[in-house]
Amino acid sequence: MSNVTKIYFSPSGTTKEVVDQLASTFSQDGDSYDLLNFNSDKELGSDDIAIVGMPVFAGRIPKTARQRLAKFKGENTPAIAVVNYGNAHVTDALLELVDLLKENNFNVIAAASTISHHSIFDGVAVGRPDSADIEKIKEFGKRCQEKIESNESLEAEIPGNKPYVDYKKLPFEISCDEAICAFCYDCVSICPEKAIPDDDPVDTDLDLCSRCTACISICPEDARKFSGEAFESKKPAFEQANSERKEPEFYL
Ligand SMILES: Cc1cc2nc3c(=O)[nH]c(=O)nc-3n(C[C@H](O)[C@H](O)[C@H](O)COP(=O)(O)O)c2cc1C
Ligand code: SF4
Ligand code: SF4
Repeated sequence: MSNVTKIYFSPSGTTKEVVDQLASTFSQDGDSYDLLNFNSDKELGSDDIAIVGMPVFAGRIPKTARQRLAKFKGENTPAIAVVNYGNAHVTDALLELVDLLKENNFNVIAAASTISHHSIFDGVAVGRPDSADIEKIKEFGKRCQEKIESNESLEAEIPGNKPYVDYKKLPFEISCDEAICAFCYDCVSICPEKAIPDDDPVDTDLDLCSRCTACISICPEDARKFSGEAFESKKPAFEQANSERKEPEFYL
């Protein structure tokens, strides 16, 4: 029997939720790899099924997540590629994820883009994935299972362009309110860029920081947040421009 292996990078937790929902449609269980902390070589066999979820960061999959995912090698392993975005744009991220998996000897049988609550602009896609999204994700999971059982390959064309859009680092500041920080160091442990000094969790090295949101999401005191003029001035217009509901897309 195949193992269903979940691989994801999910700083604010919604990509993990989508991957978990998709995996729940399979009767088999398997290992989970959280790329916020897993950074090692790993081989999957032809009997495994990989469900791989990545958030969209400025039209790409996050650079660090890409480097960590590249350490996974398949053996013509069936894979389902999912990018999860904040109701703005997918741009080249899904194509990039599918290409990377293929380069590493995964047999990508299906792909999807799903929508979740925007992890920076929190007025966008509030409450998503919602029950309508989850129903569609589960239906997609069943179709993936049928495809794997009947040995079918991916037929649909994946949207995106090559060369992929250049990496872009967002100019927003992240601040920490020292008055409410409990010095638990959870943010230090989770930061994939080592941008929070372990002797001063109130500080953030913005040159190293990818703005991934993991520290904001994990902080039990809500001490960390986006701040500053660039963020505050962009927020209303961004939220207005991306207020219309988008729907998940499935490629089989
Ligand atoms: C640095 C950064 C860049 C982002 N860029 C995009 C983008 O290009 N398009 C979009 O729709 N959402 C974008 N988002 C929103 C995330 O893709 C979305 O919130 C996703 O659900 C986050 O997944 P997570 O909950 O697993 O962290 C961005 C978020 C971050 C942190
Ligand atoms: S400091 Fe930056 S890179 Fe590190 S967890 Fe926070 S947002 Fe992510
Ligand atoms: S997670 Fe929050 S409370 Fe804990 S050290 Fe970091 S900023 Fe302080």
